[in-house]
Amino acid sequence: MKDAVKTIGGSGAVDWLLDRTVLPGFSSIGYRVRGLAGASPDPEGRLAGRDVVVTGANSGIGAAAAEQFAALGARVHMVVRDLERGADARARISEATGSDELHLHRGDLSSLASVRELGAALAEELGTGIAALVHNAGVMTQERETSVDGRELTLATHVLGPLLLTELLVPALAAGAPASVVFVTSGGMYTEKLAADDLELERRDFDGPAFYAHAKRIQVILAGRLDEELAPRGIRVHAMHPGWADTPGVVESLPRFHSTLGPILRTPAEGADTIVWLAASDEAAAAGGRLWMDRRMRPAHRVPWTHETAAERERMRTRLAEMAGLEHLLREDPGPG
Ligand SMILES: NC(=O)c1ccc[n+]([C@@H]2O[C@H](COP(=O)([O-])OP(=O)(O)OC[C@H]3O[C@@H](n4cnc5c(N)ncnc54)[C@H](OP(=O)(O)O)[C@@H]3O)[C@@H](O)[C@H]2O)c1
Repeated sequence: MKDAVKTIGGSGAVDWLLDRTVLPGFSSIGYRVRGLAGASPDPEGRLAGRDVVVTGANSGIGAAAAEQFAALGARVHMVVRDLERGADARARISEATGSDELHLHRGDLSSLASVRELGAALAEELGTGIAALVHNAGVMTQERETSVDGRELTLATHVLGPLLLTELLVPALAAGAPASVVFVTSGGMYTEKLAADDLELERRDFDGPAFYAHAKRIQVILAGRLDEELAPRGIRVHAMHPGWADTPGVVESLPRFHSTLGPILRTPAEGADTIVWLAASDEAAAAGGRLWMDRRMRPAHRVPWTHETAAERERMRTRLAEMAGLEHLLREDPGPG
């Protein structure tokens, strides 16, 4: 079975070409040509009976990931900010999979108080072990918005809330080791360089897609750094990007993109596939801190000018910990070895 899984992703040359040409690679064409359709993300059944947490689980890619985890027999903890929308999604997923192991939790990832409450409840309920924590909740705003904590909203939702939630769940993840944390990032981050001394982009004019892409760049760097810190406890941290999937979020935030590319966008399930695969795969467990798409490791940069320095990464890590109220937890940089 392992050999069968290794052939997934298409031949190296075809896969490389799809990746570099972006449009076919990121659309449903790439997913199909890579031979992923119908290939179980967990052929060995490792997720059956395990607890997994998915944020933004009522819609789009998060709901599709929750459904795939449920179909594999996992106990799925769906984090939603609106319990009514959450209950609708839970009913749909239960109907589709037959699972009655779908549990709703309220949490607004943009609010540190809400995340603290959520983290405490999950830590108490799942103290015996979490197999996977998926940071999927995401937003692209139309104007500069601030969170209840006064932070730029895109950064708060994609980075500060997930960082805090990860830290609150480290003991439960360690108890569930081998465990994984997955950041659902975006190919849009290839266009952005880390602004290490302006994480909220206060010195830039507002631009929704650029602010979103910058928060996604931070997620990718943070995944690398958290993996160095947490791997010794049996927790691997990954970043993945789902390609372009047809979701309510895309319809709302990028209507022109959606109407132009609609026919070739991925389904939410195709976008979610690598999330679930990362939580189940030996290959991913052996290589944390990297960016994945369609079950293959991808470069974190495509152009030279987006590379950050080690010092910039360090300043980012320190500043994020301060913003998330986690200074006391700052770990030593474990260094390259
Ligand atoms: N679709 C794509 O092509 C694509 C491409 C690259 C990356 N992504 C990433 O994939 C993830 C899912 O996006 P999607 O396309 O599936 O969009 P979506 O359908 O809009 O789903 C986003 C989810 O995040 C939730 N959410 C937003 N803000 C939240 C908050 N403050 N607290 C808790 N939950 C919150 C939403 O809840 P409500 O329903 O209550 O709003 C919803 O459940 C995002 O991180 C996005 O950046 C998507």
